[in-house]
Amino acid sequence: MRPTVIAGNWKMHHGPAATREFFPEFSPELSDPEPTIGILPPAISLLAAVEARKGRPEVALGIQNIHWEHKGAYTGEHSAGMALSTGARYALVGHSERRHVFDETDDEVRQKVSAALGEGLIPVVCVGETLEERQAGRVDDVIVRQLDAAVEGLPEGAPRFLLAYEPVWAIGTGETATPADAAAAHGTLRKRMAETLGAERAAEVPILYGGSVKPSNVAEILAASDVDGVLVGGASLDAKSFAAIAEAG
Ligand code: PGA
Repeated sequence: MRPTVIAGNWKMHHGPAATREFFPEFSPELSDPEPTIGILPPAISLLAAVEARKGRPEVALGIQNIHWEHKGAYTGEHSAGMALSTGARYALVGHSERRHVFDETDDEVRQKVSAALGEGLIPVVCVGETLEERQAGRVDDVIVRQLDAAVEGLPEGAPRFLLAYEPVWAIGTGETATPADAAAAHGTLRKRMAETLGAERAAEVPILYGGSVKPSNVAEILAASDVDGVLVGGASLDAKSFAAIAEAG
């Protein structure tokens, strides 16, 4: 049975002070079994988040991006090991803003997945097509290519990871994929993982949907087949709105 995962990607919002204010206001009444909740603040706010969520084991933390090297002359970057040492458990890898704003390649995504797993972080690998690619009927080609590149060379029985299907045209736009669109893409990803990683491992990987998820649409998205959770941007910034989303998990 895959756990339901409700993750919040704060992007470049909430410095340390705002992070400290968020946690006391974030008090969802969780269902039984409880969903796994993850919050991914900016790296500079991770330590403040660790402090602020003390006594809240139900909330895991993550970093939004890592470098693939352990250390070195990479000004402005953070390694997986550094993130782990702050208390982070997850690392987002290949978010669409990394791919499309910062030109991150499939090969870099692969190296980051490997670095995260090597250091003991759980990668949350993001894949998703642009509007042009969807209109050209290339959704499956694109997400399978991104998935294959991300998991290429993973050792047998490698530690676990999560996938997030985030259609680029739905991120921060208010447009959401229909539950049927999400189910179709998630089904494609699950089938491909069964081919490349084996059915047993494919069945264990939670696949989250991301793209304009909010309290009013989360229930119908979570009800779609093969949707194991959500990755939430804008609606995770407000403690009450993110709590309402977590309560649907
Ligand atoms: P959004 O972002 O919920 O603001 O669309 C989702 C994401 O980028 O992970």
